[in-house]
Amino acid sequence: MASNLRGRHFLTLLDYSGDEILDLLRLSADLKAEKASGVHPRRLLGKSIAVIFEKPSARTRSATVVAAVDEGAHPEYLGREDIRLGVKESVADLARVVGRMFDGIMYRGFSQKTAEELAEWAGIPVWNALTDLYHPTQALADFLTVQEAFGSVDGAPFTYVGDGRNNVANSLLIGAAKTGLDFRIAAPRALFPADHLVARARELAASSGAKITITDSWRDGVADTGVVYTDVWASMGEEDRISERIALLREYRVTSEMLESSGRPDVIFLHCLPCFHDDQTEMARDYPEICEATNEVFEGEHSRVFDQAENRLHTIKAIMVASLVGSADPVVATGDGGSSH
Ligand code: CP
Ligand code: NVA
Repeated sequence: MASNLRGRHFLTLLDYSGDEILDLLRLSADLKAEKASGVHPRRLLGKSIAVIFEKPSARTRSATVVAAVDEGAHPEYLGREDIRLGVKESVADLARVVGRMFDGIMYRGFSQKTAEELAEWAGIPVWNALTDLYHPTQALADFLTVQEAFGSVDGAPFTYVGDGRNNVANSLLIGAAKTGLDFRIAAPRALFPADHLVARARELAASSGAKITITDSWRDGVADTGVVYTDVWASMGEEDRISERIALLREYRVTSEMLESSGRPDVIFLHCLPCFHDDQTEMARDYPEICEATNEVFEGEHSRVFDQAENRLHTIKAIMVASLVGSADPVVATGDGGSSH
């Protein structure tokens, strides 16, 4: 891998160049091939990872733990009740304690400022496992899935439909602007991304060649697109806004008609998961209208959501290896220039 990311935090894709993001994707693809071949070089042997999560998680927590164990590291989960951040102990104090014992911190919480403060005080790399503002490890897995489907991350236009100002949309917007994508957000105006973030994305696009479109017309947003992506209508911590969001977003539900409107038979459907798409959950039964994608789409031939979920593992592993070891050379390479072997 060309970039040396040793010692770097991973708090937002704004801190990474387009080339560094593409390098992380190459490393992820190589590590995925390496795992499939049964080779386990254990690059993180003797290291310990603090998994500090203030919000629930299935995928990100599992990906972090399995990636750490695959590479020979010891992960330790510290949940909300263990750390009591800002309740019983300040962020700066906890960061300095954890920094004395561990080699890296995977942090999931509410405020981006907490992630930044941890990074300021811990003295070890901090990786953002989701805050209210960004979800950068998710965006890497999403881009890897696009790369697998279309040969390169910019192999097809990419459209995010739904809550256009949430953490997932924000990270995709920045990542897309850095890596030169034709990227669209289709959302009601009330849920457009923040003006300053769109302005920053457009600035980045001017040098990367990306094309950024923000529209309230899902038909315009998905025309000729190769990727239709959506997320939940109310993110963690926004449960009291569910009724309001249903009213705003019901027209933006991803349906087979929406996929067909792309005009591309190879269009793929992505979702970071968990996804409301059927009546198999308590919340969906309480609010039958929260359904950001139909079951037909979720289970249909265009859906790549489980490849995408698996890619959380390989991309999180790449981030941890790159920032703890530096430029890692996979033992088995995919042959796309990702390895020097
Ligand atoms: N996509 C994602 O971050 O899932 P979890 O909340 O289960 O980690
Ligand atoms: N936007 C969602 C993503 C979950 C993975 C949330 O923050 O709840």
